[in-house]
Amino acid sequence: QVDVIAIDGPVASGKGSVSSGVAKALDFHVLDSGALYRLTALACMNQCVDLSDAAAAEKVAQSLNPLFKDGKIYLEGKEVTDAIRTEEVGLNASKIAAYPGVRKALFELQRRSAVAPGLVADGRDMGSVVFPEARLKIFLTASAESRAKRRYNQLKEKGISSNIDDLVSDLKDRDRRDMERSVAPLKPAEGARILDSSGLTLQETIDLVLAWYRE
Ligand code: CDP
Repeated sequence: QVDVIAIDGPVASGKGSVSSGVAKALDFHVLDSGALYRLTALACMNQCVDLSDAAAAEKVAQSLNPLFKDGKIYLEGKEVTDAIRTEEVGLNASKIAAYPGVRKALFELQRRSAVAPGLVADGRDMGSVVFPEARLKIFLTASAESRAKRRYNQLKEKGISSNIDDLVSDLKDRDRRDMERSVAPLKPAEGARILDSSGLTLQETIDLVLAWYRE
C-alpha cells in the first residue's frame, strides 16, 4: 500500500495548488478528484443530459474515459483543460456530485490512482470515503472572501473576467450544496488536521503539510 495524503476542503480553498506543490516536493502523483466531477458535468452538458436526472448522470459517469496527460485533460479525444474550469461547469459538477450513483461510478477510477511512489488526493471526501487509510488527512479552509479573491485571480489568469460578489455567492451556493448533501457531505474526515490558509502564503501552506507528513 502506498502513502496517500488526502487534502479536502471547500471551493477554492487552494487544494489544487497546495496538492501540486506537496506532490512536487515528494515526487508523488496527484489526483484532482474535482476534475472527474467537472468532466462528468461537462460530458452531461455535451450530451444534452438533463442534470436533474440522476440515473442519466450516473450512466455518463460510468462511461467516463478521461485522459490526463502532461498537465492537460482530454475527453473523447478533445482537450478540455480550460473548458472544465468555468463556474457553470463547477456549479453543474456540484449538482451531479450529490447523486450516490455518480459518486459510486467514480470511486474505482479514483482508487486506481494510488500507485507508487505515492499520491496526493485533492477533493471533498478523499480522507473520509475514497482513501480512509490515508497516512495524512488535511481539511484545508480559508475565509469566503479570500477564496473568492483566489478564484477571481485564477479566472483572470485564464483571461476570464468575473465579479467578486458573484463569486462569493457562487462559492457559498456550492459549499452549501456540498455540505448538505446526504452522501459524502463536505466535512473534516475523522483524524483530519484543520489547516486555515487565510493568513498563509501558498509556500507556507505547502511547508506545513510537508512538516505534518514528516512528523
Ligand atoms: O476547485 P473547486 O473547489 O471549485 O472545485 P472542484 O474541486 O473542482 O470540484 C467541483 C465540484 O465537484 C465540487 O463543488 C463538489 O461538488 C464536487 N466534488 C465532490 O463532490 N467530491 C470530490 N471529491 C471533489 C469534487
